[in-house]
Amino acid sequence: MATSSSAPLRVLTGITPSGTPHLGNYVGSIRHSVRQSVAPGVESFFFLADYHALIKVQEPALIQRSTLEIAASWLACGLDPERVTFYRQSDIVEIPELTWFLTCVTGKGVLNRAHAYKAQLDKNIAKGEDPDADVTAGLFMYPVLMGADILMFNAHKVPVGRDQVQHIEMARDMAQRFNHQYGEHFTLPEAEIDDAVATLPGLDGRKMSKSYGNTIAMFAPRAQLQKQIASIVTDSRAPGEPKDTEGSALFQIYQAFASADETEALRKAYAEGIGWGDAKQMLFERIDLEVAPLRARYEALMNDPAEIERILLIGAEKARKLARPFMAELRHAVGLRNLAAGSGKGGVRKAKVAKPSFKQYRERDGLFYFKLLDAHGTALLQSRGFASPQEAGRAIAALQQQRGAALATLADRLEPAGPEELRAANEALEALAEATTPTDGS
Ligand code: TRP
Repeated sequence: MATSSSAPLRVLTGITPSGTPHLGNYVGSIRHSVRQSVAPGVESFFFLADYHALIKVQEPALIQRSTLEIAASWLACGLDPERVTFYRQSDIVEIPELTWFLTCVTGKGVLNRAHAYKAQLDKNIAKGEDPDADVTAGLFMYPVLMGADILMFNAHKVPVGRDQVQHIEMARDMAQRFNHQYGEHFTLPEAEIDDAVATLPGLDGRKMSKSYGNTIAMFAPRAQLQKQIASIVTDSRAPGEPKDTEGSALFQIYQAFASADETEALRKAYAEGIGWGDAKQMLFERIDLEVAPLRARYEALMNDPAEIERILLIGAEKARKLARPFMAELRHAVGLRNLAAGSGKGGVRKAKVAKPSFKQYRERDGLFYFKLLDAHGTALLQSRGFASPQEAGRAIAALQQQRGAALATLADRLEPAGPEELRAANEALEALAEATTPTDGS
């Protein structure tokens, strides 16, 4: 059920509850996604990816605590559960079922190439250990579970950091394969990377991340925030000596909170030789200005976990209003059906042999596009945008009739393809022509 271009833009954001939220999470995800959720024409889904947490965390109390902390953080930052759909992954029993459906259309080779899994393999190999040491099937299947999160709600956009882009592409691939096999059920999701919110450096200048132990807790009490900021690594230049803003973690963190004017003022202060102690005090005050009101709400929420539980259960019901019927549709599509209902129209039919096909669609930019897919649903050619469906149709007809020759004449209407891809596209066009000639007898 692809959503038409006039429908609201569905944006889906998930966070794995595997630790205490830090300023990197706030600047890189939470602040932006909460703001975006109140934009007109946007329908937002926010969830706690607690099934994902089981892959990394084997401490039950930590998962419970982190789920509470992240839920409270979102709410403290202004997430409105009336307006958005706000839920916990493990409350949506349809998610594991969809995970299985997607597992069955995902190539194992695709999962072999997933970064998180490969990183673990490379580490093991470098240490001379068994490549699969400490690799659970959960880690291997991580992208499929994530695909189910996204496709369950037919999200258009998924705001993520660069490290997650590959997962969104895999979800897209799963959607394509499923649609090709069973009909158009899934919207193809896209990653949304906002470079303005980029990554925040941590205390040591590397990306702020729990795994580096260089984070500043988002809602640490004032005194602790000040102490953490004091431990940001700087160089040894004395007060009075001009300082470099380039490569200064302190400066970059300041910039993530300050207005353009405030940032300019700090840049000038650096040039004029502000002492590191004073610069850290400026940073502390600027962050605290933004965080203090949120911290007060956060503390109130953390003192009332029953209220958060209640909010999440209402959210789960709202999410399942969509998931339940959609899953019923998908069960039917794949053939998990009521036996007494008869085979009907969609019942037992001689399965058609899969062959290459063209898919036409309209994008949100209002233009008309097509793709040539191989028998497995993998895209071989991708067109550029056409002003009308007729123009797109004419290009498809040319490809069907003139095949390889049309690949050359239409080159500027197609996204660039390498020699391998062109060869595959050519073969697919030949196969299609063969399958549709009358002498074929079918
Ligand atoms: N993998 C994401 C992370 O660790 C969390 C996540 C799980 C997610 N499912 C998702 C993010 C679906 C976006 C969409 O940050």
